[in-house]
Amino acid sequence: MSDNQVVYNGETITRGPLAYEGKAKQVFETNDPDILWLHYMDQVTALNGKVKEDFAGKGHFNNIISDLIFAYLSHQGIAHHWLTEISETDQLVRRVEIIPLEVVTRNYSAGHFVSRFDVKPMMQLSPRVQELYYKSDPLDDPFMNNSQALSLKIASQDELDQVFAMADQVNNALVKLFDEVKITLVDFKLEFGRLKDGQIILADEISPDTMRLVDQATGKSLDKDVFRKKEGDLRVGYEDVLNRLREHVK
Ligand code: TMP
Repeated sequence: MSDNQVVYNGETITRGPLAYEGKAKQVFETNDPDILWLHYMDQVTALNGKVKEDFAGKGHFNNIISDLIFAYLSHQGIAHHWLTEISETDQLVRRVEIIPLEVVTRNYSAGHFVSRFDVKPMMQLSPRVQELYYKSDPLDDPFMNNSQALSLKIASQDELDQVFAMADQVNNALVKLFDEVKITLVDFKLEFGRLKDGQIILADEISPDTMRLVDQATGKSLDKDVFRKKEGDLRVGYEDVLNRLREHVK
């Protein structure tokens, strides 16, 4: 078996051509039309790709943290695209048609919420905030409201209802999980996709690249904010998150 082959559910999956390269991941076709092969790169970007750097080992942390979180969400009955981890940096996922929306949930004020509304950071938001952004690199992922998403036929009302309900389910599950390892889940971004039959499932990655995580003991960031704010080596926090989750999620 070579590096570009793996056995999954008794079937030999062979990595095929590159289908898409994002800012931190490569997506490959496979011999199975319903399965894609994701490779997590060591690259980290901020400001929608305008600032870039490589951190050896970062792809590994994101891959394994994502694996642990998706496995945990499976136990909570949340439908998602993740199938299995296949190496330190790679995983297999179900093919979906990605809905071009980023769904952000905020439990505390941070990032754009602070700059947009001129509020103090780490203010508890009750009720939690849900926001949509339109996934478009040339437009820098602009904020989008529900009626804009409906009018532009990006998603139907029923799909939006499902997406927001699933984001709440994920939020409830992850707030609890991270609290158990003494981490506060400040905010995070999710993406969703459609299966061939139209079912909406959770897609993309869930890692410290896509969440803000704060250590409850020290107040330190354990996520990409360390890179965004040039506060040192982000891998220290990522490794800490991985170790705590590994201990906890069996
Ligand atoms: P924001 O405060 O920059 O809007 O980010 C909110 C959360 O969403 C934060 O956890 C980072 C995550 N996020 C992404 O993963 N990708 C993105 O493109 C954006 C804008 C935010």
